[in-house]
Amino acid sequence: MDAYDGLAPLYDHWAEHMTEDVPFYVALARGAAAGPVVELAVGTGRVAVEIARATGRHVIGVDLSPGMLEVARAKAAAAGVEALVELRLGDMRDLGRGPLALDAPAALVISPFRSLLHLRGWEEKAALFRAVAATLAPGGRFAWNAFVFDPHIAASNDGYAARHGRLWEYIEHAPADSRIDLTVYAGAPGVEPRTVQLWWATRSEWEGLVAAAGLEIEALYGWFDGRPYDDRSSEMVFVARKPL
Ligand SMILES: C[S@@+](CC[C@H](N)C(=O)[O-])C[C@H]1O[C@@H](n2cnc3c(N)ncnc32)[C@H](O)[C@@H]1O
Repeated sequence: MDAYDGLAPLYDHWAEHMTEDVPFYVALARGAAAGPVVELAVGTGRVAVEIARATGRHVIGVDLSPGMLEVARAKAAAAGVEALVELRLGDMRDLGRGPLALDAPAALVISPFRSLLHLRGWEEKAALFRAVAATLAPGGRFAWNAFVFDPHIAASNDGYAARHGRLWEYIEHAPADSRIDLTVYAGAPGVEPRTVQLWWATRSEWEGLVAAAGLEIEALYGWFDGRPYDDRSSEMVFVARKPL
């Protein structure tokens, strides 16, 4: 079972602190040319449902976890946008192939909330970036965000158990593998802890992935309010573009 399947009923509670990204991705969708919007690793539809509701656009959401997609389906129905939010079960690295083939080139591809960090190392991320480039219409955009690796934060949160409401989160760092293991526990009898793994990447790795896929960087922000990326930034918010 995918680690996120067990987290699906808890995910929105766990992610409730993350709200400022939604208007950022909605604005990109609103300004995009004609064509579908694709969210890679759509999860419970936290962003996709809001894009459909706010813009009336067709959003294709891809995710590996049937449990997360089930929650997304219910949220789309509750928001009255089930006809706009098309949810597809699959691995984002298969974008453009088989069940993840698109009928029309995408106007915008997004991957919010650090989801690309679930792809291990350069090779897996590079395959994804190539697939995104092949899927985008000329002039189409690819936007994602990822945390900035900070050795001070890593040192302080390795082995750290934090509480988020009724959830417990336990963090372990594996620096030799550029990896963080995040274990989430609901603190309820019969609910097993779930561990998800994140492989961080540096600014220059992201820039290399963009260039190697034939895309170009349009913007790198330090947060979703568009502030410049600098030494104080804890998040990288990238917008790349497929050349015309
Ligand atoms: C942190 S959640 C983000 C969900 C959503 N994008 C959001 O912003 O709330 C990460 C999601 O990535 C999905 N995921 C992980 N690896 C994946 C892969 N290779 N292909 C598709 N989805 C994947 C998980 O199932 C999970 O739903």
